[in-house]
Formats: sequence, structure tokens, C-alpha cells
Amino acid sequence: MKFPIVRKRRLRRNENLRRLVRETRLSADDFILPLFVCPGRGVKNAILSMPGNYQMSVDNIVTECREISNMGIPGVILFGIPEHKDEVGSESYSTDGIVQQAVREIKKSVPELLVITDVCLCEYTSHGHCGVIKEGDVDNDETLKLLAAQAVSHAEAGADLVAPSDMMDGRVAAIRTALDGTGFDYTPIMAYSAKYCSAFYGPFRDAAQSAPRFGDRRSYQMDPPNSDEALKEVELDLAEGADIVMIKPALAYLDIIYRVKSRFEVPVAAYNVSGEFACIKAAAEKGWIDGDRVMMEVLYSIKRAGADIIITYFARDALEHIQ
Ligand code: PBG
Repeated sequence: MKFPIVRKRRLRRNENLRRLVRETRLSADDFILPLFVCPGRGVKNAILSMPGNYQMSVDNIVTECREISNMGIPGVILFGIPEHKDEVGSESYSTDGIVQQAVREIKKSVPELLVITDVCLCEYTSHGHCGVIKEGDVDNDETLKLLAAQAVSHAEAGADLVAPSDMMDGRVAAIRTALDGTGFDYTPIMAYSAKYCSAFYGPFRDAAQSAPRFGDRRSYQMDPPNSDEALKEVELDLAEGADIVMIKPALAYLDIIYRVKSRFEVPVAAYNVSGEFACIKAAAEKGWIDGDRVMMEVLYSIKRAGADIIITYFARDALEHIQ
């Protein structure tokens, strides 16, 4: 037999051949960009550990959203940095809360852009936990009422989707019931279903000023070594009415994305979180890696693993590198 009949290199010989047989594609359609909204006017504070990302006041967020929409990115996910924090995070469900204001203004100026809101208390509570504290611990069922109120207030402001990230048990059902009871039957829930207790959230907690003042989030976020448990979390969220399920973080959990996408016939989102972004930016800044190429590799890996939606701080940069 003539030496190799199969030569895999035949189809790798130039870029057009490679384009023809490329198995995974990325486009603007895949991305959601996270944005941080803060009080004031004309505010644009750089977030040092997340180069190219800012805490922005509502006016600047609206300008940013117009650009994002013009680039073809379908939506943004909003995080709020409130004026005041308190024990129960009351600004999180106030009609005039920072996120509610931002949603209203974005929907007024850029109505076609999808506005997703993160539903959680940690940015709004004085103690920095994702729920109400009772006897030194986060009280699950008391927290549900506040999360439901927050989700409804976001929907009232015009949010297109709500995304609970708190990891309380039963929150999807509580939010679904509250939305349906207030006329928002068609507001989808994108649930952070398998959210791990991860050190990759470090830069985000600086950006959103949401680090817990005591303890950590291990009693509600998932333990990193577990994977069957993630499937159960997804199954429960779907049974409670989640429309999209999310895995977070993405890179250390690509196996979870793959298992969830293989098992359930629903849209799967993956959150390429702040620490994943920061590691690449920092190494690139030192000249240790080619940041743009590493960015594209990780985004392709998330898509290859099975994510239909990638929430990423790279959304803008990535579009410059997609042919
Ligand atoms: C909680 C929330 C967090 C992130 C998104 N929503 C942080 C946390 O659980 O501490 C992290 C996102 C990121 O790191 O990019 N509201």
C-alpha cells in the first residue's frame, strides 16, 4: 500500500481550505457583554483588574449599548453598583434602583438590544452575601421573596430576560410564579443553574464591590469537584421553569457544559468570568502569551463544548478577530 492514503494535512494547507472544513464558528450572535452600572452622570471608572471594562453611569451605559448593538451583539447583562447598601439589599428591588433606571433608559434609546438583568442580592447587601442573613447564615426561603420582587421590578423596568445568580434553592420557581402573577408570562429566565464557588470571580467582586464581608459562598454555590450535582441543578431549574441554563465559570468547567448540552435539549449559556478574562489580559500584558490568539482559543473551546450563548468581557475584542 502506498504510504499514507489518508493525509490529514491536505485540508490544512491554506486558510481558505481551513475555512471550508472548520467545524465551529463564532459570530456576534454568540455573545452577551456584561456591563456595570453605577450612580452619577458622566462616570466611567476603569476597573483595573479588567482592562477595557468600566463602571459607568446610566448616560454612558446607554452610549455603550448603542455601540454594542451596532456591532451586532444581541444583548448585554447588567450588574448594579447601588448608591446605598443595607442588610436586605433593598435597592435591588426598588423602582428607582440603579439597574431599573439603566434598563428603562437603554430600552428607550436602543430598544432592539436585549437587556438581561442579573438577579442577586450580593451587590446590594451591606454584608455582601447573596441573601438575607439569619443567625449567621443565608436564609434561603426569606431570600426567595426578595429575589422575586427584584425580578419583577426588572421586568417592570423593561428587562427582556432575568438571570438569577444567587444559587438559592427554589428561586426559579419563585421568580416564575412572581413574573406570571404580574403579567410577565413572556419574560424568560436564564438561570445560573450550575454556579460554582470559584476564585475566578475575584476581579468581578472588585468591579461590583460585592465581596462577602464575612465567610464565603460555599454554603450556596457549588463545590468545584462535583459534576453529577450540576446535572441535578440543571434538571431542577428546568422543572421550575428555566428557559436557558447557565454554567459558570466556563473554562474550568467545560466538561459540565458538554454534559449539560448532551443531556438536555435546551439553550445552554456559559459565563466566561472575570478571572478568566483577567488572567489572559495580565499574561498578555507581560508579553507571556499572545492575548488575542488565546482569547479566540478559549472562546472556541466554550462553543465546542456546547455553549449556545457565551457571556464574555471579550465580546467586543473577539469580533475584530472573527473572519
Ligand atoms: C453574583 C454574581 C457574581 C458574578 C456574576 N454574578 C459573583 C459572585 O458570585 O461572587 C461573577 C461574574 C464574573 O466573575 O465575571 N451576583
